Amino acid sequence: MDSLLIKGGTPLCGEVTISGAKNAVLPIMAATLLTAEKCIIHRVPDLSDVAFMGEILKSIGATVKIDGGTLEIQAAKIKGYGDYELIRKMRGSICILGPLLARLHKAKVSLPGGCVIGMRPIDLHLKGLEALGAKIQISEGYVIAQAKRLTGTDMFLGGRAGPTVLGTANLMMAATLAEGVTLIESAACEPEVVDLANFLNAMGAKISGAGSPTITVTGVKELHGAEHEVIPDRVEAATFAIAAAATGGEVQIHGARADHLHAVIDKLREAGVKVERTGPAIKVRRGSRLKSVDITTLPYAGFPTDVQAQMMVLMAITPGISIITERIFESRFMHVSELARLGAEIALEGPSAIVKGGRPLSGAPIMASDLRASAALVIAGLVAKGQTLVKRIYHLDRGYENIDAKLKQLGARIERVAET
Ligand code: EPU
Repeated sequence: MDSLLIKGGTPLCGEVTISGAKNAVLPIMAATLLTAEKCIIHRVPDLSDVAFMGEILKSIGATVKIDGGTLEIQAAKIKGYGDYELIRKMRGSICILGPLLARLHKAKVSLPGGCVIGMRPIDLHLKGLEALGAKIQISEGYVIAQAKRLTGTDMFLGGRAGPTVLGTANLMMAATLAEGVTLIESAACEPEVVDLANFLNAMGAKISGAGSPTITVTGVKELHGAEHEVIPDRVEAATFAIAAAATGGEVQIHGARADHLHAVIDKLREAGVKVERTGPAIKVRRGSRLKSVDITTLPYAGFPTDVQAQMMVLMAITPGISIITERIFESRFMHVSELARLGAEIALEGPSAIVKGGRPLSGAPIMASDLRASAALVIAGLVAKGQTLVKRIYHLDRGYENIDAKLKQLGARIERVAET
């Protein structure tokens, strides 16, 4: 297991290019199961989650080839189930359920468990599939879904915490091959849902309204192969923007889609960070004085839960009190205790973290617990005085392509070391 050794205190300066979005490419890979023809996907990030999803598709019978940032997948002959252990280990793999059911009329997928950020149920996925006519059974750790045919219908996908991103993806994919029209109400509006809809339409699907709370899918008889370029990762872009601001540097972030980052840019500006839009890039630098701001995570276009931990680091070094409320995942505060080791003063009160900002951070050995918490700890290490060792960074490699190389290019003193 690798760790990152960071010597803090150097402002990040220069230019960085954002990779393809993890949360867009995973459902797009699943969507290739809807056709026997070859699909080609460009701007694919080199991430362990992508490699893992590739293994899952192979276990179902697809051929998967990756060459640089281009992925070729052909699911000519597939079976309705994959490797139990592989599927169980990656939550994102639940989005193979819809495509398998639509194409083969049956699917057997291991039930994903909860994880450190929360319970992560899949009741809304199953409710939508049942509405399309599937019979669902949960048995011996599997979700077993069967349907002689899927029939278009109206469905409401709003849950306890609002819409579901992968649930919307699953149902949109299942509905492409259903008979008739499916109306998904309270659909997730995330850019990754739009990217998936664009890919499905390129495959011959008839989807409109993606990016709004009402998605209409008119079923077609079959889908064909397609070529697609994945959108840049808005969470990676936000992470670099916050790292630039936190270290007092200035970074031009190429490929950052400002139109996908409204809520983040708005909060950064409110906090006194200068963010300029320069064509297909944003330039970020810390203003003369940072101000504390309150943040509540919400479904898109609200402030993303995937950027909450990183923003907490910025607030921890900003004088004043900031209240950060997590409304999407109930226990997404694993970074708080590790940030405390570096000297941050943060108290938890129900779904909120109360950050008493402005304390100086100083380096220490800390432990990464999940993907975005890990990114936050790296930013904290870049700011902290002295040396920080971030352990268990395999979480980081799930979702950030070459993060240490990219940070080094911006002047960070960061090394990957083997854990002792
Ligand atoms: N929920 C239900 N029932 C369901 C599904 C979800 O109650 O059937 C609840 C969840 O428990 C949560 C909320 O709805 O409280 C939203 O969950 P959602 O289904 O939208 O999350 P997801 O689709 O499983 C994706 C991303 C996450 C990201 C969330 C929210 C992928 C692979 N994962 O998860 O990304 O945080 O949407 O935006 O796309 C990450 O990249 O670090 C990450 C965790």
